[in-house]
Amino acid sequence: MCGIVGYVGRRQVAEVLLESLRCLEYRGYDSAGMAVINSKGVEVHKRVGKLNALADAIKRHPIIGHVGVGHTRWATHGEPTELNAHPHTDCTGDLAIVHNGIIENYAELKERLVGRGHTFKSQTDTEVIAHLIEERLKRHPMGEAFRLALKELRGSYAVCLLSAHEPRRLFGARSGSPLIVGVGKGEAFFASDVPAVLARTRRVLYLNDEEVVVLSAEGPKVMTLEGQAVTRRPSTVNWNIAAARKGGFAHFMLKEIHEQPRTVEQTLFNRLSVERRQIAFDRHTQTFLNRLSVQEKLVIIACGTAYHAGLVGQYMLEEFARLPVDVDLASEFRYRGPMLDKHTTVLAITQSGETADTLAGIRLAKEQGAKVLAICNVVGSSIAREADAVLYTHAGPEIAVASTKAYTAQLTALALLTLYLAKRRRGVGPARWRELVEELARLPQIIEQTLRIEPAVKLVAEQYASPRNFYFLGRRYNFPSALEGALKLKEVCPLIHAEGYAAGEMKHGPISLIHNGWPIVFVATHSPVYDKIISNIEEVRARKGECVVIASDGDARIKRYADSLLTVPQTSEFLSPIVVAIPLQLFAYYVAGANGCDIDQPPNLAKSVTVE
Ligand code: F6R
Repeated sequence: MCGIVGYVGRRQVAEVLLESLRCLEYRGYDSAGMAVINSKGVEVHKRVGKLNALADAIKRHPIIGHVGVGHTRWATHGEPTELNAHPHTDCTGDLAIVHNGIIENYAELKERLVGRGHTFKSQTDTEVIAHLIEERLKRHPMGEAFRLALKELRGSYAVCLLSAHEPRRLFGARSGSPLIVGVGKGEAFFASDVPAVLARTRRVLYLNDEEVVVLSAEGPKVMTLEGQAVTRRPSTVNWNIAAARKGGFAHFMLKEIHEQPRTVEQTLFNRLSVERRQIAFDRHTQTFLNRLSVQEKLVIIACGTAYHAGLVGQYMLEEFARLPVDVDLASEFRYRGPMLDKHTTVLAITQSGETADTLAGIRLAKEQGAKVLAICNVVGSSIAREADAVLYTHAGPEIAVASTKAYTAQLTALALLTLYLAKRRRGVGPARWRELVEELARLPQIIEQTLRIEPAVKLVAEQYASPRNFYFLGRRYNFPSALEGALKLKEVCPLIHAEGYAAGEMKHGPISLIHNGWPIVFVATHSPVYDKIISNIEEVRARKGECVVIASDGDARIKRYADSLLTVPQTSEFLSPIVVAIPLQLFAYYVAGANGCDIDQPPNLAKSVTVE
């Protein structure tokens, strides 16, 4: 989704804004722009396409100044054109605004403003904000005009305003879309996400919804939308800019795939002790979980990859914690009239903590009296702040649009949660519990070992680079793996249509498409349904489908069923989805590479989906 940056300080602002915007490229965008204040007034530059186009334009016509705002736009209202790119200005050209979110009542506001003589240049919802502020400025000072204008908006926004009336300050606010403040020495920043400010400062202030900030080089002044002062101290981010860079890999996606032994280790860190035969969380989360352990039902909500993690979580929690679990796509959950009460716990799974549907889902759950637990990667994100308890995945910044390390971190967190609850609910005997805990502790090494199949996966992927349709099939714990494998491939290689199915479902329809050479990726690691998967492979082979099989190391029987075989270390079925995620991610990566796709920023996709 759109990226916002703002800067006030001593440096040349254009450079800072471009550098910060580059750190937000992962969010997806189709145009970019910036506005800077200087002796000429407010200067605006915009370009369609990648940031380099904007950087080239600025190189040709340098803009001087020390205060400015920048934006990468992911089109929602109106085509990706220069006119629709942000910043948007008012009729006077003294105000320039950047926005992320959707203003739901923009049409009625626009009609009113046009009636009052305002002229609009773009098709965007954002432009109404600039004109609304202009209107309010007729009777109020700058800060108040900004606040009062925001109060008229319905929908979601994170906004930054540059104004010729206050040339040493920026104004920012959020409601439903992310905005943070970076606090440096004699300089300050606005940004949609932490990586954008990390090169300059690690001191960050996370804003709450309906908070307004007046930003000067001395720092932020925070107040509510009603104008009441808010006192909040910045927190220190515990990862640095190196963690947000490619580190020698060709793509962020590949870097993040390779980070998984470490990220899983971080998810387990301080929580799992094999010697003490103990799983523990921070005191607050533990109190929350102890309450959950006597509850009767858990509802998991999430979107995309995080939803697939939730589906695996359902198998884990039902089998070992004997806790009934429903899993809902957050976008469906919020509209299906779910029956919740104080006896239900809703578990939201999210990498970004900003996904609009998941956020709306937890708000609905809270309204109905349910308690909310979040499995989340981004500290201080909206969902992390609104949940009653958070189990952070600590996977570090995930920059590639396609989620990889956040997924395995979510699965690891679910495994921890399951084993914690399993002990309290006596869902599994002590010996089996111990075996699972020991295996979970070895997971970073198991993933390390799994990554060694990269050259084999690359070879297979290159062999299958030309087909345009794929099926991914699995059963039980690895049915969600099949969904995730297919999602990964179609995300990073938009030339390909890939579907994931439960293998047993094939005969109910999808098998009709299989013909000579149709590639099917099977997840066939050891499990109680291994023989059934073999039967499914036979069904496909009888129709001349080509089988790429992911199986367990040492499985001699599987060889004759596979056209291409990839093997992963043997594990319990409980942890197998984490291990098979590796070849599935690598397969998608190398097929996309062989097809020349834009792997880290696939077209039409955004990293953080902050609109409905
Ligand atoms: C897939 C992907 C998306 C996200 C989904 C939820 O690779 O990245 O499907 O998983 O948009 O995002 P979060 O986890 O941030 O709520």
